[in-house]
Amino acid sequence: MLFRSWHSLLAALLLALSFGPSVQAQSGLIQNAAARRVLSLNGSWNYIIDPYENGFYDYRREAFDQSKSGKGGYYDNQKPSNAQEPELIEYDFDHSAALQVPGDWNSQDPKLLYYEGTIWYKRNFKLTPTAGKRYFLYFGAINYEAHIYLNGKKLGMHRGGFTPIQFEVTGKLDPSGDNFVVVKADNTRHADAVPTINTDWWNYGGITRDVFIAEAPGTFIKDYKVQLAKNDPSTLMGYVQLNGAGRAGQTVTLNIAEAGLKQTLKTDTAGRATFRFPAKKLSLWSPQNPRRYVVSLASGSDVVQDKIGFRTIQTKGQDILLNGKSTFLRGISIHDENPLIPGRARGEGDLRMLLTWAKELGCNYVRLAHYPHNEIMLRLADEMGLLVWAEVPVYWTIAWENAATYQNAEAQLSDLISMGKNRASIVVWSVGNETPLGDPRLKFMTSLVKKARSLDDTRLVAAALEVHRTPDDVMHVDDPLGEYLDLTSFNEYAGWYWGGAPSEITKYKFDIKYNKPVMISEFGGDALAGYHGDANTRWSEEYQEALYVNQLKMLGTIPGLRGMTPWILTDFRATRRQHPVYQNGFNRKGLISNTGTKKKAFYVLQEYYRQQAVKYGEK
Ligand code: GCU
Repeated sequence: MLFRSWHSLLAALLLALSFGPSVQAQSGLIQNAAARRVLSLNGSWNYIIDPYENGFYDYRREAFDQSKSGKGGYYDNQKPSNAQEPELIEYDFDHSAALQVPGDWNSQDPKLLYYEGTIWYKRNFKLTPTAGKRYFLYFGAINYEAHIYLNGKKLGMHRGGFTPIQFEVTGKLDPSGDNFVVVKADNTRHADAVPTINTDWWNYGGITRDVFIAEAPGTFIKDYKVQLAKNDPSTLMGYVQLNGAGRAGQTVTLNIAEAGLKQTLKTDTAGRATFRFPAKKLSLWSPQNPRRYVVSLASGSDVVQDKIGFRTIQTKGQDILLNGKSTFLRGISIHDENPLIPGRARGEGDLRMLLTWAKELGCNYVRLAHYPHNEIMLRLADEMGLLVWAEVPVYWTIAWENAATYQNAEAQLSDLISMGKNRASIVVWSVGNETPLGDPRLKFMTSLVKKARSLDDTRLVAAALEVHRTPDDVMHVDDPLGEYLDLTSFNEYAGWYWGGAPSEITKYKFDIKYNKPVMISEFGGDALAGYHGDANTRWSEEYQEALYVNQLKMLGTIPGLRGMTPWILTDFRATRRQHPVYQNGFNRKGLISNTGTKKKAFYVLQEYYRQQAVKYGEK
């Protein structure tokens, strides 16, 4: 096709974009979006279960929103236009049942517990746009694939069940103020997805985190990073990124009043201002001193405030140095699930409960497995003084040679780092968990490691590596991926999946190839709370207790041991776990049951952490 002019080329491009294949959400998430003036869309959303996707495809399996009219799908939210001769409409959101948002659908209705497929959500909202203001529709997470429509018009689609989704809706809100948003959420598992088709956690579907519309000035502070320079406790550095017509050549002030720090910056033609300046008197953030400062950024009519802690993290030989001092990561693994529902954790209360249990255990560190957790969780870790291992769901048998799969994983990692880059609590970006050895896997994972370092060179990069055993009872850790990482982390289940009874596992020795800090990313065993026997009675609390006692003895023989995140804080739902007496669809490796009962092993780890805190002068 020959384009007569630039305008016709542009028109063709815009046409292609509007009718072309659905696109991923816009890149460039707004930093700290929830701090803006927001209209919450949490609450009751009507829903329609649509296993055959009749609301998305016509009977010839053509997508309605790719048709010429773009109409015909449930996203039209069609109503009869003529009471006398009503059209045939075979759905009606307003007379359908409701789900609570945020919240997975599985835990809200028994008939949805195992449901995998599409559910449509719809809610109305009143918002009269103000001239000159910009509006952004924001979802904390939708699992797994989402198509999103505003007032019957498609905004786009997104894949990835645990990272924020954001669309600008300026000019798309109805001037009357009456609007409706429709979401097609589909939690169908796919071999080429991230995570892949098989995991050991429940495939909770739906809009599982907060939804709101954020308002911003025409030109606003879209992104920023304010952190200590790498390994330098007395230098602040970062950037401020404006977005909007007036972004170039703008003055931006950065003010940390409590530290007597103020900088006046000027943006470049792309609206970006970078900075690096001395900051001598900062009280450094740590689990014992989770000191955060109010950081105010202002430009034109826009002011954004954030609470940010400042600390350094690095490794030196086999030591992990937090603010230059060797520490031991007294951790625990945590899924994003409220054990008492059980379903996805829905808000601050659920999340604070989980982290309070971690503090009670004596933790200074948590592994937020196996996917990006809620931003609220990261901010609570900042507030409560817990270091964080954050992770993307590159888990088990990923489609290593599929380019789209890699792009998906990299997008999730980029969004995780964008969301978490100002959180002092986050010290580790993990690029995956227990992935089988092979060249395609190594290429995929090392590409993610490189991406993580390019986005943020101030934090450690890790992954749960592969371990193999030899008949002489040696656990060998020589996974080639370890070469590229800052920590030697691995999962081992001596005393549960192999190695005999708990009392036998101290026979194991370790052969670890890398001279790096060793952080055991998982160990553990199941126990049904309240079920008692002796130390050899599998599934009993006493068995799990003996397993922890002997695991800690065995791991104590590793000279470079500098931390652990035993599996796991609380029992959690998992379809793999079907023993009708002991499991009933729950993985029982929790130190706390799904009714909030602490098992005997909880106290073994608690005492060990008390001793470690004393040993490292962190009591
Ligand atoms: C694996 C995996 C976890 C799983 C655990 C288990 O190591 O990383 O996601 O739940 O083992 O088997 O319980």
